[in-house]
Amino acid sequence: MDYLTCRTTADGSLTFFSEAFQECFHSRHGAKQEAIYQYVIPARLLEKAQQQTTIHILDVCYGLGYNSAAALEMLRDTPAHLVIHGLEINPQVPLAAIASGIMAVWSGETQNILQEIARNHSYSDEHRSVFLHIGDARQTIRNIPLQWADAIFFDPFSPPKCPQLWTVEFIQLVAERLRPDGVLLTYSCAAAVRKAMVLAGLTVGSTPPLGRVAPGTIASFNSQLVPPLTLAEQEQLQTKAAVPYRDPYLCDNSYTIRQRREQEQAESNLESSSQWRRRHNGGKRVGGVTDPKC
Ligand SMILES: C[S@@+](CC[C@H](N)C(=O)[O-])C[C@H]1O[C@@H](n2cnc3c(N)ncnc32)[C@H](O)[C@@H]1O
Repeated sequence: MDYLTCRTTADGSLTFFSEAFQECFHSRHGAKQEAIYQYVIPARLLEKAQQQTTIHILDVCYGLGYNSAAALEMLRDTPAHLVIHGLEINPQVPLAAIASGIMAVWSGETQNILQEIARNHSYSDEHRSVFLHIGDARQTIRNIPLQWADAIFFDPFSPPKCPQLWTVEFIQLVAERLRPDGVLLTYSCAAAVRKAMVLAGLTVGSTPPLGRVAPGTIASFNSQLVPPLTLAEQEQLQTKAAVPYRDPYLCDNSYTIRQRREQEQAESNLESSSQWRRRHNGGKRVGGVTDPKC
């Protein structure tokens, strides 16, 4: 059970604040903007729609449905068939988004689709199919075929608030769903997250910052689809900040997962984040350590 309250973001679109996670569902700079510029545009869906008859998207943490809605709108006038699989633990979130009118930022057609997804957990017409898998993503991820996704929208609450979904083990399962030329997008640039992606065999790069100093992350098995990390970003992956979260049996709670990482950091001889910052940013923090949503 979560208690959700409405918040207005800087682009005028609305989001929720989660009492359970003590965090907003979107960046305060703009929920709609985040969906379009953090996820859908870097996924280059329009380009793919010129080359493929079907586009496959995995929306990890469907939430209110912003990221799927942005993809539905972007591909509305293309001939490509769009298939989306969304993973979400709380079925009340998409229902509450519809009930409170938050999704009125999208076209009437998209709102109708979102409404059907929220109520029936699936939607289908001749151009699009959407399936919402309700449950812990650590289990429901197994419903998604291997090497299936052209794009993965990876949007859990921040690593300290929801470490369960940023672990080496879960990110490995997510990466296994990505096609060899697919891309994974997330708002987080935390070194621990990027390290987990690298351990899953992905090449990681930065996406342009959106309303903040820190960038987001793009990851792919095809390194040509990913801009190179700066020297500072590469070296950050060798620091204590890059000690990843671990959840060996994919069932631990957030406290246990955070404790396990803190223990590993305490025992590690890696460079500290403050030493790394002194070398690269004159000691200044530029984000990427905790990466809160808001
Ligand atoms: C930051 S919000 C996602 C926002 C969403 N992408 C959107 O555009 O509206 C994170 C979402 O993850 C869901 N969540 C939290 N833990 C989860 C888990 N273990 N498995 C699946 N979903 C989870 C929350 O209920 C919440 O809806």
